[in-house]
Amino acid sequence: MAGTAGAASPALDLLSSRRVAPDPAGTPPTPAELEIVLRAATSVPDHGRLHPWRFVVATGTGRAVLGDALAAAVMEARPDAPEATVAKARAKPMAAPAVVVLVASPVTGSNVPLWEQHASAACCGHAMVLAGSALGLGAVWKSAGVLTGTRLRHVLSLGPDEAVFGWILLGARPGGTSPALRPEIPLAQVASVLDGDRPLVAWGTAEVVGHGGMTAERQ
Ligand SMILES: Cc1cc2nc3c(=O)[nH]c(=O)nc-3n(C[C@H](O)[C@H](O)[C@H](O)COP(=O)(O)O)c2cc1C
Repeated sequence: MAGTAGAASPALDLLSSRRVAPDPAGTPPTPAELEIVLRAATSVPDHGRLHPWRFVVATGTGRAVLGDALAAAVMEARPDAPEATVAKARAKPMAAPAVVVLVASPVTGSNVPLWEQHASAACCGHAMVLAGSALGLGAVWKSAGVLTGTRLRHVLSLGPDEAVFGWILLGARPGGTSPALRPEIPLAQVASVLDGDRPLVAWGTAEVVGHGGMTAERQ
C-alpha cells in the first residue's frame, strides 16, 4: 500500500506511488538533471555487466529529426498509411522538451541470454521514469507502433541487433499536478505462493490457483 510504504521509506513511497501526469512540458530538464536520469539508468540489474543498452538524448531540433524518422518508419512499413497516422508519429517526440530514446543493445556471443539483456534494457526505462519523478519532473515512457525503418536506424545509429525500446519524455510536470493513484491491484490476482507439496495458492488467501507443488506432478 502506497501510504504504508511511504511511512517506511521515501524510496518505497516513490516506487509505489509514482504516477505519470499528462505529457511533460515547459523548459527542458537541466544537463545536471538529465545526467541524474541517465546515471540512474546505468544502475539497473545487468548480468555480466554487459550494459546491453544505450540512450540517445534528443532536445531542441533533435526531437524533430527523431519525429521525421518515426514518420518515415511508418511510411516505410505501411506505404498506404493515412497522413494522420504519419503526422501522429512525427509529433511524438515533440510532446516534451526532452526525449531519451532507450536502445536495447545486446552483446552477441555472450552466454547471457538475449531475454536477460532485453530485461535489463527494460529496467533502464523504469529507472529513468523513477529518477525523473524523484527530481519532480514529468517523466513518461512512450513508444510507437513502428520502431524500425531505414531512416530511424540511421538517425539512431542502430546496429543490426539493436532495437528501440521506446523513449522517456522528460520535462516540467504540468501545473505541478499530482495524478490520481492507479487503482490498487489486489495482490491475490497477480501473486501466488509455492509452499512444498501444496498447490499454488493466491497471495494472502487459501484459494488454490494452480496445480503447482510436487503433488500435482506426481499425479
Ligand atoms: C515500453 C512502454 C511503452 C509505452 N508506450 C506508451 C505510449 O506510447 N503511449 C502511452 O500512452 N503510454 C505508454 N506507456 C505507458 C505509460 O508509460 C504509463 O505507464 C501509462 O500512461 C500509465 O501511467 P502510470 O504508469 O502512471 O500508471 C508505455 C509503457 C511502457 C512500459
